[in-house]
Amino acid sequence: LYLKNSNKSIPTKYLYDDTGSKLFEQICNTEEYYLTRTEKQILNKYSSEISKISNFEEVFELGSGSSKKTKILILEGLKKLTKLTYSSLDISEKALEMSSRQLKNISPFLRVKLFKGDFINDIIKLKPNQKPKLYLFLGSTLGNFNNQLAVKFLNNVSNIMQKNDYFLLGVDKIKNHKIITSAYNDKKGITKKFNKNILSFLNKKFKLNFDKNNFDHFAEFNKKKSQIEMYLEAVTDHKINFPNQETIKINNGDKILTEISRKFSDNTLEVLFKKSELKVIRNFSDNKKYFSLYLLKSMKYS
Ligand code: SAH
Ligand code: TRP
Repeated sequence: LYLKNSNKSIPTKYLYDDTGSKLFEQICNTEEYYLTRTEKQILNKYSSEISKISNFEEVFELGSGSSKKTKILILEGLKKLTKLTYSSLDISEKALEMSSRQLKNISPFLRVKLFKGDFINDIIKLKPNQKPKLYLFLGSTLGNFNNQLAVKFLNNVSNIMQKNDYFLLGVDKIKNHKIITSAYNDKKGITKKFNKNILSFLNKKFKLNFDKNNFDHFAEFNKKKSQIEMYLEAVTDHKINFPNQETIKINNGDKILTEISRKFSDNTLEVLFKKSELKVIRNFSDNKKYFSLYLLKSMKYS
């Protein structure tokens, strides 16, 4: 936790405890959150093409959440396969549980493997087999990494990819700032609940005494960095006590960064892919170009 200096932040993975994972699912269904439904539209339209190009016999998803959108690709694959393995690597047990429920009983030809782990650190431990695989990283989760981490993550993916593997990456694109900002400030206040829930998780995990009522949800678009920045903003002076007797003073107006969500241009992505040894095979998008699915290959093999 980085709470002492003036740039306070909390690692975003703490957003996803059981409650957080359930709240995220609800965010995906809000009117303002265009990302999920747009990505779903693209998948519905292009999954047969993605399957035809990549010829996958296995699907490996990083940070799967509920796997609702993934089901579209799995059903497409099952049209021609009599054996398909789907693996999910997620840090949240709740997400893995939702994912397993989502895919249960859809076909006797589908095998589901669930791995609880960190997609930054554990992905390099994977020992890939020779089956043509489709790696998935959806929901613009890449946007939650700063540029340095994004390059590291994409390089890791590129490195584990074998000759016949493909990587399908879902990213949110730069667009009208009002549309972006409202996706992180939904009227029902679910994003606010999701953001504040990080404090309950910290209280449990580190035995702290954060009070949700001392904070407000604040999400704004940083034009210069082309990213949404999500904060918890203190609405009163107060202290946080640590189990080792240490205390931290929080002042009214102090902001704790909980998440960034970058909005990409074709140019930024091009640079990012180049740095990560990834080659674009196809770019699938919706009519309004709100969201993109990039089908990528590792440059090692071209
Ligand atoms: N792919 C889904 C979910 C996106 S939300 C969708 O498009 O809707 C991000 C997901 O990544 C959550 O399920 C969360 O539990 C998981 N996650 C977050 N940080 C992680 C980490 N460090 N390692 C593994 N999974 C992580
Ligand atoms: N990957 C999602 C995104 O960038 C994560 C997300 C959506 C999120 N809504 C959020 C993270 C609200 C924190 C708070 O859109």
